Amino acid sequence: MAKHATPMLDQLETGPWPSFVSDIKQEAAMRAANPKGLDYQIPVDCPDDLLGVLELSYNDGETHWKHGGIVGVFGYGGGVIGRYCDQPEMFPGVAHFHTVRLNQPAGKYYTTDFLRQLCDIWDLRGSGLTNMHGATGDIVLLGTTTPQLEEIFWEVTHNMDNDLGGSGSNLRTPAACLGESRCEYACYDTQAASYNLTMEYQDELHRPAFPYKFKFKFDGCPNGCVAAMARSDFSVVGTWKDSIKIDQEAVAAYVAGEFKPNAGAHSGKDWGAFDIEAEVINRCPSAAMKWEGGKLAIDRSECVRCMHCINTMPRALHIGDERGASILCGAKAPILDGAQMSSLVVPFVEAKGDFDEIKEVVENIWDWWMEEGKNRERLGETMRRLSLQKLLEVVGQEPSAHNVQEPRHNPYIFFKEEEVPGGWDRDINEYRKRHQR
Ligand code: HEM
Ligand code: HEM
Ligand code: SF4
Ligand code: SF4
Repeated sequence: MAKHATPMLDQLETGPWPSFVSDIKQEAAMRAANPKGLDYQIPVDCPDDLLGVLELSYNDGETHWKHGGIVGVFGYGGGVIGRYCDQPEMFPGVAHFHTVRLNQPAGKYYTTDFLRQLCDIWDLRGSGLTNMHGATGDIVLLGTTTPQLEEIFWEVTHNMDNDLGGSGSNLRTPAACLGESRCEYACYDTQAASYNLTMEYQDELHRPAFPYKFKFKFDGCPNGCVAAMARSDFSVVGTWKDSIKIDQEAVAAYVAGEFKPNAGAHSGKDWGAFDIEAEVINRCPSAAMKWEGGKLAIDRSECVRCMHCINTMPRALHIGDERGASILCGAKAPILDGAQMSSLVVPFVEAKGDFDEIKEVVENIWDWWMEEGKNRERLGETMRRLSLQKLLEVVGQEPSAHNVQEPRHNPYIFFKEEEVPGGWDRDINEYRKRHQR
């Protein structure tokens, strides 16, 4: 028998999609039955009270979490999101309902052994509820009390060799697309880059030292499966410098209908027979492709490496061999001065070994932004306030046509004094000798 009546939430148990309500009820029933005989460290009915407070919010259309909450573990300045219910007498099981962020493995590959250990810790010391995963990437353990935080931290570090993720004005948990682990488009080892930079900058991740939050994300190619260009201040996106590799026989197999276009992604609808002219050649954004006499040709100098032709004929077209990545900066959500996607800063860097070229760019940007960024100003906003030109200067990137989509159309152009013959110090009396008042 459920603790609270939840008529509105019950409606969300219908329909084909996996119901979070059914799942939470199942966890509530499991805790009540307690088949393992656990000595639960937080209220056994925590999930029931979560459903209770959620039902109340569904009724009155308002949240019932109090403002903010500052909790954590010694040594770190972030990692836990504190939260308290504003109706603690009605729902004592969620009076404390803190969220613990745990750093996830890059690409989110797990063994059942690891997940079982984690669930064992969380069943005992938390609500039994999770988010797999937070939008930044972390494993999110949803709901526990303050006294359990150090206990959980001790167990995940000592027994599982796992650390917390980031929160606050610091480097947040980096994330990567699954990259070379199972994608033939990957231009560098995104998981290795994500892991390497996460380890390199542990201090910046655990102890807030920045004007505001800062995120890294690593995409293996411009398809953007981890959406680095939209969801990270520092976006690393794989690409190549040489030519797309063309397997003419495989192209013929697509044209003959033996291979499915886009690996069968549109097979749910009849789009007719594959038409290489209409679906690839004429879709190339830079008209860099030719289909003549049963042969496909690509003008490498015009190709912007958009991925369209490769995505459409993955068995015939392949990324080049001179691989690396582009670095783009400044993506952020709307608050304060409007949403931004990242802007291209470094068109091509090496992305291998210890990723030293990438780290150099990171550290140059941090040196600048940590000094010049205003309180709670994202890198994207600092770039707007102090200019892309300033960012290129601190990164040591020679400005090139690649850095802009189009040149400015207003003439409010600043020159450096040393660029202008004679400099800025002028005497009006000299001028008056030639021009009367
Ligand atoms: C042959 C006629 C004119 C020429 C060659 C001329 C040229 C210029 C130039 C070179 C500037 C400086 C732009 C800059 O700082 O980047 C300027 C600014 C300005 N001019 Fe003229 N101008 C002319 C007529 C006028 C007239 C008739 C008015 C007003 C009735 C005017 C109002 C202004 C104003 C307000 C600015 C300052 C704009 C700003 O600071 O953004 N100009 N003009
Ligand atoms: C009480 C009267 C006025 C006040 C208080 C006033 C105030 C201002 C202020 C605060 C600015 C911005 C300065 C900056 O960019 O830092 C400005 C710019 C300007 N004002 Fe006025 N103004 C007045 C009258 C006028 C009049 C009568 C004209 C022209 C007939 C004029 C033309 C301009 C122009 C062209 C600019 C430059 C706009 C730009 O930089 O884009 N203003 N004014
Ligand atoms: S971003 Fe590119 S390399 Fe990474 S998984 Fe997606 S398609 Fe593959
Ligand atoms: S990757 Fe894009 S720009 Fe390059 S040839 Fe293919 S479709 Fe054209």
